Amino acid sequence: MKTGKIFSHSRAHTLEIAGRFARALRGGEIVFLRGPIGAGKTVFVKGVAQALSLKSSPTSASFSLMKTYQNKHTRLFHIDLFRLEENEVFNLGFEEMLEDEQAIILAEWPDPIAAVLPSDRLEINFVLRQGDERVLELVSNGCVSDRLLEALCQAQ
Ligand SMILES: Nc1ncnc2c1ncn2[C@@H]1O[C@H](COP(=O)(O)OP(=O)(O)OP(=O)(O)O)[C@@H](O)[C@H]1O
Ligand SMILES: [Mg+2]
Repeated sequence: MKTGKIFSHSRAHTLEIAGRFARALRGGEIVFLRGPIGAGKTVFVKGVAQALSLKSSPTSASFSLMKTYQNKHTRLFHIDLFRLEENEVFNLGFEEMLEDEQAIILAEWPDPIAAVLPSDRLEINFVLRQGDERVLELVSNGCVSDRLLEALCQAQ
């Protein structure tokens, strides 16, 4: 387990940090994004997807909790379970994602599926500060996420 802390002073800065972090992704990584509404979790995901030149795939209504971004080489799943009803979790079509060991998984409000995902994952907790300032508190738990944490600290 490793911990770290980085600072963002604006939306653009978070996009930049996420873009540099994206270069460390090889496939098979899991990132949990925590923090209150409006903290910048989705901005971070957009920064990653943009930096990897991933296109968002059409999302069906039943899959609105999960968006797929991809190109020829990389598939990224962006999950947001904020509006998930408790009994919905097993009907989401997550099987495809769980079987894809090379997928990159970025999950906001991840608690409903935390138990079915491997424990080697990077946790990023977005903390609101004054104005546009955010602190990103990092915790990793395994060799894949340890490497990601180091990359993210260098991306600042
Ligand atoms: N340093 C910052 N990093 C990221 N976003 C910032 C920052 N400062 C201000 N913002 C603004 O905060 C908002 C973050 O929105 P975003 O959708 O990413 O939040 P979120 O954490 O995904 O919330 P939710 O839990 O509702 O999904 C945006 O309007 C963005 O412009
Ligand atoms: Mg969001």
